[in-house]
Amino acid sequence: MKILVTGGAGFIGSNLVDALVALGHQVFVIDDLSTGKQEYVNSRAKFKQLDIRDEALANVVSDFSPEIIYHLAAQKNVRTSLADPRLDASINVLGALNLLKAALNSKVKKFIFVSSGGIYGDSKILPTPESAPEQALSPYILNKLTFEKYLSILSEDKLAWTALRLANIYGPRQDPQGEAGVIAIFLDQALKGETLNINGDGKQTRDYLYVDDAVQALIKALGDISGVYNIGTGIETALLDLIAKIKKISGQDLQIKNREAVWGEVRRSSLDASLAKTKLAWQPNYDLATGLALTYKWFRDKK
Ligand SMILES: NC(=O)c1ccc[n+]([C@@H]2O[C@H](COP(=O)([O-])OP(=O)(O)OC[C@H]3O[C@@H](n4cnc5c(N)ncnc54)[C@H](O)[C@@H]3O)[C@@H](O)[C@H]2O)c1
Repeated sequence: MKILVTGGAGFIGSNLVDALVALGHQVFVIDDLSTGKQEYVNSRAKFKQLDIRDEALANVVSDFSPEIIYHLAAQKNVRTSLADPRLDASINVLGALNLLKAALNSKVKKFIFVSSGGIYGDSKILPTPESAPEQALSPYILNKLTFEKYLSILSEDKLAWTALRLANIYGPRQDPQGEAGVIAIFLDQALKGETLNINGDGKQTRDYLYVDDAVQALIKALGDISGVYNIGTGIETALLDLIAKIKKISGQDLQIKNREAVWGEVRRSSLDASLAKTKLAWQPNYDLATGLALTYKWFRDKK
């Protein structure tokens, strides 16, 4: 099939593109390379450096005429979204709408949006199912939720769509700079022999999902399903437990420094992906120890 992937030079997007190319699909990547890297774009995929907000997007989409669009391009930094909500909305709402308009004007059969499990905020129900109340604690999350709603309103019966609400994804190619995933940051610091900084007491939990499992869920979303699905392990891992695992894998006695807790940070999080298991026939294949070992190896070999 002809498949367009926005954000295909990024961490999750480039891993997805590799898998789609391996399945024999014809893939076109659009990415402005603001955080992505061209070297991560599979050499068998077409690539165009373009901002999703650009007017030229409509022609690019209609010229390629994809059957499927995966939308991953995003401003993904929560702190940036708080500091500059207009920037976040311009990319994550207006840019996404620019793409959706182009999809509706061409022969796209399905639009697959990469959303976030952060939509449930500090949920009282853990693991959290899709039916739990939404609680946007940042403009980034608000805009993920907003675009899900736009998809539902504007697509109606014209375009099939699916939104996957991903847990905390980790794995090869995640960027350890800035406010990236904590696993990439810690592995990078461990390999440099640096002190690991913990915000708060380290008892906060997250649902860590290996990138190959996320990619498999995205591929399953090509099937005859629609609507919103959680994609996670349902397992809560405390930051201190994560560090213990990294110590074991790296064989190093890592130094830890506790910093002040970050205001507004969610205390506990894990996603109930029972719906994805039933409807997408998806479930994770990698446990944290295996995924961490693979990711550690990638970071070590990259040095
Ligand atoms: N990493 C996670 O844990 C996680 C969890 C839930 C959801 N997501 C979502 O998954 C998607 C991919 O995230 P990632 O972790 O791979 O981050 P990433 O930064 O590696 O990927 C985002 C890609 O989008 C590109 N991009 C950004 N703004 C753009 C624009 N205006 N026009 C064109 N391209 C643009 C970047 O260059 C980058 O290649 C994002 O939508 C993110 O919100 C990620």
